[in-house]
Amino acid sequence: MDLNLKITVLGAGAIGSLWAVALKQQQHNVQVWTRSPDSEYSVNYQDLNGNTHPFLFTANSVNHLSQSDLLLVTVKSFQVEVALAPIIKQIPDSCLIVIMHNGIGSHEAVKTLFPNHCVFYATTSQAALKTDEKLQHTGNGQTFIGSLSSTQSGYNVISEVFNQALSPCYWQDDIMEPLWKKLAINCAINPLTAIHQCTNGELANEDYQAQLIQICNEVTLVMRAEGYKVKNGELYQQALTVINATADNYSSMNRDVFYQRQTEIDYITGYLIHRAKKFDIAVPVNTQLWQTITSMESSYHA
Ligand code: PAF
Repeated sequence: MDLNLKITVLGAGAIGSLWAVALKQQQHNVQVWTRSPDSEYSVNYQDLNGNTHPFLFTANSVNHLSQSDLLLVTVKSFQVEVALAPIIKQIPDSCLIVIMHNGIGSHEAVKTLFPNHCVFYATTSQAALKTDEKLQHTGNGQTFIGSLSSTQSGYNVISEVFNQALSPCYWQDDIMEPLWKKLAINCAINPLTAIHQCTNGELANEDYQAQLIQICNEVTLVMRAEGYKVKNGELYQQALTVINATADNYSSMNRDVFYQRQTEIDYITGYLIHRAKKFDIAVPVNTQLWQTITSMESSYHA
């Protein structure tokens, strides 16, 4: 496939910058939309082999946005609506929109914002770390892209564009299943690493196993009620795989708490609790974690 797309990446965090670089490497015409008014955005990209490459992007060009074929939204779950609202009128009707963030729950607001656009959701386990000095691709992982409604199936050309940039990327007719599986991993890893201010790898310690199993068992019950087939112990094993594969990393929630920023707890554990209530399923361990993170957030500026 030889497509040259005009792309805007909204959100210049680690994951947004990683995809911007990877898509630009495939000769797409990529700009980055940032929070600053600057007309350029640069990153020093370090690939998985440790080689560094400088990248310069156009930034915040309304002209580029209004001609974009694809808008990739990589801001945090709670920022989606706020980040899109001011630019919505500049997004052409023909532009495909891909939303990629941890957690679930932005889709109602997104549906209201874009009643007529083709909107897709994506989830990735590609890992990246962004500091003032560099953007580091720290681990390869899988990406899934799909739509929330079955009427939009068959857009796998979009997952092929992502697959060429950072492989593997798979098309998924029902994206909710991969979103739930990623939610399970985030429910297991993010609150514990944030509360204990530890690396993902430290959760492999024996002390955490009973709690990890309880968290995953609660998610299993809710996922089954949602209609997904989940085997006993499957989510715990997947969480352990990610814990080992990303052992040296600090999770996103760990960093948010460290820097006293708002976390995505309401879209991760909060979403699980919200769905559990609907099915009348008790999720006490996750509820306790949600309460701890929420009270940590409210004590930031106390
Ligand atoms: O939020 C994160 O940090 C990541 O989604 C994950 C998979 C937990 C790895 O750190």
